[in-house]
Amino acid sequence: MQLVWCETPATFNALAADKVISVLSHKPSAVIALPTGQTPVGLYSELRTRAAARELPVADARWFNLDEYVGLDGTHSLSYAKFVRTHLLDALDVPESHIRLLRGNAEDLQAECHDYDEAIARAGGLDLAILGLGANGHIAFNEPGSPWDSATHVVSLSALTRSVNARLHPDAVIPEKGITMGVATLRAARRILLLVSGESKRKALQALRRGIADRAWPVTSLVDHPDLTVLSDAQLR
Ligand code: GLP
Repeated sequence: MQLVWCETPATFNALAADKVISVLSHKPSAVIALPTGQTPVGLYSELRTRAAARELPVADARWFNLDEYVGLDGTHSLSYAKFVRTHLLDALDVPESHIRLLRGNAEDLQAECHDYDEAIARAGGLDLAILGLGANGHIAFNEPGSPWDSATHVVSLSALTRSVNARLHPDAVIPEKGITMGVATLRAARRILLLVSGESKRKALQALRRGIADRAWPVTSLVDHPDLTVLSDAQLR
């Protein structure tokens, strides 16, 4: 694990963007998984800027997202598919055929999970999974206690996750279930970039830094990953 302390948001976002560009420069057809949340917003802004400056080779890349709320279609204001399109994909010159986002409103959710895993496999597997971190240590929507051998699956969201995620949407009802890439899917990514920002993530980051796999902290499923980069704001040092 490489842990980089970032003194400013500008450094945090620039280093995260450098990582994405480095992956795409070495493999323009790279397969990338995108997170939702406040943490990656600055990265997405930086990537839009770099794309406008033609520093981001996106034409051949393949794009997936990590997770979605069950029951929402991709135009819903809470939808994670909508989020990654609004913050990043819509601003890039990306062919629609290179984008596969989870369909939270699929009639058959099991079939959707299976189809999603097949699509990732057909694309050649994830080259880069960009992850945020939940205060309870969740990665994507893999909550504490979730199995670590799972591919894409449907989950019940914890009360903590739902209340944290409700903060930005005070008038909305946060769905009780999510659909998420599993821990096994994430661990299989050839590279992982974990973005950690905010005081609420201190305990989860400490758990990761202990280096001991602990099912109570899903992020610790990554302790033995061969290519894990963690960018953290320096106040959590
Ligand atoms: C949600 C997402 C996670 C994300 C987390 C942290 O629960 N499912 O993938 O990492 O929020 O969000 P934030 O970056 O806003 O702290």
